[in-house]
Amino acid sequence: MTASTSPRRVIMAPGGPEVSRLAYGCWRILDDPEGAGASRVLDKILACLDSGITTFDHADIYGGYRCEEAFGAALRERPGLRQRIEIVTKCGIMLVNPARPENRIKHYDCSRRHIVASVERSLRNLATDHIDVLLLHRPSPLLDPDEVAEAARLLQEQGKLRHLGVSNFSPAQLDALASRLATPVVTNQVELHPLRLDAFLDGTLDQCVTRRIAPMAWSPMAGGRLLHDQGPAATRVRAALAELGRKHGAELDQLAYAWLLRHPARIVPVLGTNRIDRIQAAAKALDTALDPQDWFAVWTASTGAEVP
Ligand SMILES: NC(=O)c1ccc[n+]([C@@H]2O[C@H](COP(=O)([O-])OP(=O)(O)OC[C@H]3O[C@@H](n4cnc5c(N)ncnc54)[C@H](OP(=O)(O)O)[C@@H]3O)[C@@H](O)[C@H]2O)c1
Repeated sequence: MTASTSPRRVIMAPGGPEVSRLAYGCWRILDDPEGAGASRVLDKILACLDSGITTFDHADIYGGYRCEEAFGAALRERPGLRQRIEIVTKCGIMLVNPARPENRIKHYDCSRRHIVASVERSLRNLATDHIDVLLLHRPSPLLDPDEVAEAARLLQEQGKLRHLGVSNFSPAQLDALASRLATPVVTNQVELHPLRLDAFLDGTLDQCVTRRIAPMAWSPMAGGRLLHDQGPAATRVRAALAELGRKHGAELDQLAYAWLLRHPARIVPVLGTNRIDRIQAAAKALDTALDPQDWFAVWTASTGAEVP
């Protein structure tokens, strides 16, 4: 495996950026019951930094194209913070939204023109001069790897972009893109949690291990379903996590993060909570070492069947 500088940091890929083992996702920042003004966003950024979380995940579309700007307003208040964090953002999904009247239908655009324009807009919104990692948000049947390579080259030459990654790509889609790039694909951000095991089984994580890519796990709490869903799988997983909680003296969310962290691909869970106490508590996952039987107890609870 690629060496990391500390157990709390990871180098995403050979030649890739160093990021924190836990990242903070900004998708829900406008839904925070405490507000989404600059001071509240700043408080969350500072809580992350105090907990060793330096990597922030965005997308152009979050909050109807408004989350990046809310984060940028916080950075404008404390410009010195920019050099202490890594910014991941995404492009490629085109929403039907008043902010984009030209979009007649929801679609994907991975053209050179759109990628460059989207990054330039993200830079303005986020009040920064560079993006650490740009992810293509979704694979598109119309994605032309040569065009993406050209966009990345242009942006990298101009110093506006450091690294390129993908999100929700199959291994074959990632390979096709990587075959044309001058720099490595540094991550694949996929949905991954005890109620969504696909990436463990469909070759996604195997490819990450092969390419020494650290994947990012979106919705590590299944968007809250892990805590609240009354279905049989979620109920079984909660019972398994509660059992582990008695053994490890940890909370359910900490154990769910620890379960992802235990995988050899060096998964980076992307936290979605708006609560500062939950951000602070998450760091304990890094000190919670699950043994293989702990890990398979959660797997078995999810599938409802003993492994073969
Ligand atoms: N690449 C993609 O296609 C994609 C798609 C979706 C998301 N993402 C990224 O992944 C990030 C995380 O996704 P997510 O927000 O769905 O993450 P999540 O952590 O799975 O879900 C967050 C939700 O779960 C609740 N929650 C979290 N911990 C809890 C706890 N201990 N007890 C009770 N409720 C809890 C939160 O409520 P509270 O705020 O009250 O804690 C919030 O409503 C996003 O911000 C975004 O950056 C990427």
